[in-house]
Amino acid sequence: MSQDRIKSLLHEDRSYLPPRHGKDVARIRSRREYDALCELARTDNDSFWAERARALLHWFKPWDKVQDTDFNEPRVRWFVGGRLNAAYNCVDRHIISDRRNKAALIWQGEREMEVRAYTYQMLYTDVCRVAAALNALNIKKGDRVALYLPMIPELVVAMLACARIGAVHTNIFTGYADGGVQSRIHDSGARLVITADAVMRGGEPKPLKSNLDRILNHCPSVEKVLVVNRANTEVNMLKGRDIWWQDLLDDFTLDADFPCVSMDAEDPLFILHTSGSTGRPTGVIHSTGGYLTYAAHTAQWVFDLKDTDVYWCTADCGWITGHSYLVYGPLSLGATTIMFEGTPTWPRPDRYWRIVEKFRVNILYTAPTVIRSLMRQGVEWTNHYDLSSLRILGSVGEPLNPEAWMWYHTYIGKGELPIVDTWWQTESGGIMLSPLPYATHIKPGSVTKPLPGIEAGIMSGDGSDDCAQEGGHLVIRKPWPGLMTGVFQNPEKFKSYFNRFPGCYLSGDGARVDEEGNYWILGRMDDAINVSGHRLSTSEIESVLIAHPAVGEAAVVPMPHEIKGEAIYAYVAVKKEVEWSETLRKELRTWVRSQIGALASPEQIQFVSELPKTLSGKTVRRILRKIASGDNLESLGDTTTLAHPEVLEDIYNNYLKLKVGQPEK
Ligand code: WTA
Repeated sequence: MSQDRIKSLLHEDRSYLPPRHGKDVARIRSRREYDALCELARTDNDSFWAERARALLHWFKPWDKVQDTDFNEPRVRWFVGGRLNAAYNCVDRHIISDRRNKAALIWQGEREMEVRAYTYQMLYTDVCRVAAALNALNIKKGDRVALYLPMIPELVVAMLACARIGAVHTNIFTGYADGGVQSRIHDSGARLVITADAVMRGGEPKPLKSNLDRILNHCPSVEKVLVVNRANTEVNMLKGRDIWWQDLLDDFTLDADFPCVSMDAEDPLFILHTSGSTGRPTGVIHSTGGYLTYAAHTAQWVFDLKDTDVYWCTADCGWITGHSYLVYGPLSLGATTIMFEGTPTWPRPDRYWRIVEKFRVNILYTAPTVIRSLMRQGVEWTNHYDLSSLRILGSVGEPLNPEAWMWYHTYIGKGELPIVDTWWQTESGGIMLSPLPYATHIKPGSVTKPLPGIEAGIMSGDGSDDCAQEGGHLVIRKPWPGLMTGVFQNPEKFKSYFNRFPGCYLSGDGARVDEEGNYWILGRMDDAINVSGHRLSTSEIESVLIAHPAVGEAAVVPMPHEIKGEAIYAYVAVKKEVEWSETLRKELRTWVRSQIGALASPEQIQFVSELPKTLSGKTVRRILRKIASGDNLESLGDTTTLAHPEVLEDIYNNYLKLKVGQPEK
């Protein structure tokens, strides 16, 4: 973690009191209430979570034991013996209440005039029909279903239909290249894939189904493919395997109701792959009872979500944020959730503000990279829109730097709205550290405090816990219901989160805590890079580079980036017979893009004759990271352990050349 970043954080002394307006009716109204809840969760953890689970969800059968957890083993079991169904909680129970005709899901298509809205009753009918159709395809409880779909309502319906019959969905972001899609489908052993002909981007359809056709030759577990017609493009339908979604549902004999399966609290609800440090994606498993409790709990407290709110989370459902805060959290609370198919800047950079005005959005949850890119486009794009319906702003995915915080607060929040900068991870299921909008004294750049029930801490590399102020590894010391229950077919990987510091969950992030107990996230301590809020693994990118015939060795490190937060800097040593050239640089970029996806495409590729290594032959990434971050030659730290320290000067000079647009050598 860079010392400069720590220094600049230390100088951040602005702070904001919670707004008065709305406080009286807020769910958590003051610091005193927050403290009391923390105390309750500390002294009687089981009762705290039991009370939340009872208040938030409908259980077919209550649990016998609140938790049976042990970080040393590790064992994560919540609401043992309890039975429930996630789709029942997100849909069925609302149609027997006053919410029946309330808008559950409002979809804004990429084109302005394309809007679809589902009441809870309408959502129920669609979910039942799709559940019946999946059942007709012989998809059963525990089967995996891969959802490779754009941001269209069918995606939400498919997730809930899987949950209804107990199938485990595994969502795949449509921006991944073939390799990423293939490994996720293959690793999960999916029997069914649901996809669309194409995804709309910038007014043009981009094919999905034809990508899938290439991939499925290597995924023997897949028996059927359901295809949603999104863009009326031509696709090949393989006889006996591929079925149009519309054809399957266009069956007037389907009943309006389809029963939901009673699931054990510990049955998996979904698997979501995140970048693993080993180069292979990690299939994070989330359970039905613990996960859903935690998603509902955090959505209600962090966003102060009320029945009258229109709530918009801008994340894609291919990421955990879309799961917890577009679908499961808000729908289990009976809220109105907005889904947007497009991007913030197409056709113009006013798209978000137009949507806020159009649907009178009350709560907006987005990402720092979006805020920074809109900030760069200029504040005038917000001018013509009435943003006065907003009452809470949220951020997730990467550090919200104080400049972006101020812009968000000043121009979108009109200097009044609280910003909840929420820290969490795919593995944590829901928000862990965050302000509560009406109770927390907010400091721009800090994620403030752990939520009640979350016991966070900072550990130094040697396992002592006295480095909170200087910074160290961010750990969680006590189980919480949202924590993943395992890693799919990889128990060793699951263990790796718990074995570095006994009794602690290791987040992989660095953080420090100031005198007032506020947490400041300093970035990843492991080999992950956070590009525009998307976690990528450096070793995965390195192995792809090395797989290219021209490449001998590669080292990938993060570099600071104005909009993306972090970007990818790759050092490449080519094979002996290969020349350094612009053509090769281009080719390597395209190669990475084709193997992992556009997100992983290196911002800069620097050719080196040799990578800096220790005497034992380990690449010293620490130094390469410093160079890519713009540190000068003198501040690279201890270089005496290098086998050939003289290579550094060359690497550094070439770094400078590339920076001004001259090729190396
Ligand atoms: C980073 C996304 C700073 C962090 C929900 C974490 C953040 C990784 C924040 C998880 C935040 C997330 N401030 N950094 N508010 N939120 N991160 O699994 O490095 O896609 O470990 O989950 O994003 O990324 P993931």
